Amino acid sequence: MKRTFHGGQFFHSIGLDFSQLGRSEQVINADVLDAWFDPSPRVLAAIREYLPFVLRTSPPIYSEGLTETISKVRGIARESILPGGGSSDLIFSLFPRIIGRGERALILDPMYGEYQHILENVLGAAVTRFELTKAQNFSVDPDLLILMIRRVKPKVVVLVNPNSPTGSHLPKAEVLRVTRSVSPATQFVVDETYVEYVGREESLEREATEVRNLVVIKSMSKVYALSGARVGYMVAREAIVNQLSVALRPWAVSLCGQIAAVEALKDSEYYEERYADTHRLRRELTEMLSSQPDTKVYPSVANFVLVELLGEGVTAERVVRTLIDEDIYIRNADSMSTGFGNRFVRIAVEDGKKNRRVVEAFLRAAAPYAKA
Ligand SMILES: Cc1ncc(COP(=O)(O)O)c(C=O)c1O
Repeated sequence: MKRTFHGGQFFHSIGLDFSQLGRSEQVINADVLDAWFDPSPRVLAAIREYLPFVLRTSPPIYSEGLTETISKVRGIARESILPGGGSSDLIFSLFPRIIGRGERALILDPMYGEYQHILENVLGAAVTRFELTKAQNFSVDPDLLILMIRRVKPKVVVLVNPNSPTGSHLPKAEVLRVTRSVSPATQFVVDETYVEYVGREESLEREATEVRNLVVIKSMSKVYALSGARVGYMVAREAIVNQLSVALRPWAVSLCGQIAAVEALKDSEYYEERYADTHRLRRELTEMLSSQPDTKVYPSVANFVLVELLGEGVTAERVVRTLIDEDIYIRNADSMSTGFGNRFVRIAVEDGKKNRRVVEAFLRAAAPYAKA
């Protein structure tokens, strides 16, 4: 069975049956981009206090209160919001309705791998890749993108912004310029999983309520530290939301997820502080990793960095494997691009102590001719 390769290999060290959850502090899961910080104290207090109720009770069927909270806090019309069990849930609901077999989609390369998977492997769409280059630090050149969309005429264009695994961000005004510069028949899907790290004013969620051909997908996993709770939302014009909500499964977001998300949305102050901490930690991590000439760290705006291994004979596969022996998991970036050639890894930002552990092990493993 063909599935997208994701991180999460660290669960092999903890036990896929959770038999060694006590090891979760020892294991560094920098192969996924989960937040290094805890959810807001408001989230933890609400879940802790009502835990038995949270576990035994059916949640509001269509996350109505969560929708209302998103609407109030983010200033988006209720009718344009569709919550789901993580953005993955929404991705798998949305795409079968906007693209079919043989129709063309345009994605970035490199980019988060699930889009290639659903488009090519699940839906049989024809995928064109807009290649981002090392020379441009993998940033998107909006003018070249416009030219390619005009030439290829895809039905759907998917942008992950900021992009993973590159960490580069195309300013909102530029994304809007791209949408306006091509045929209005082109449907844009913008995944904003990491946009809060740049600033909430960079989100296109308000524009998505009005712009005909724009859908925005927001995960609440990474920027609200809620990956385990599985919650996200989509913003689109009312007509699109109505079309999708007919087929929405009941109880898509768990009660734990709904309560956690509502409380998290109300504590933006806590999260803004954590984003500022993240930028400091990422700068430190970048500096430490760059102390060796054989590693090149690409500029990032989010909670991860893309690192190129320049040392002779060093491969991403070998570095990843070597670090596992020290309970450290980082990601071979190969599954997110056709052009990485076993020479790129993606490392999530952790707290200061864990970052130091990652760097020490990494620099040892990534030195030229280091023993596997
Ligand atoms: C760009 C991007 N989109 C979507 C997802 C899936 O997130 P969720 O937990 O909301 O399903 C991820 C997870 O890593 C991601 O990196």
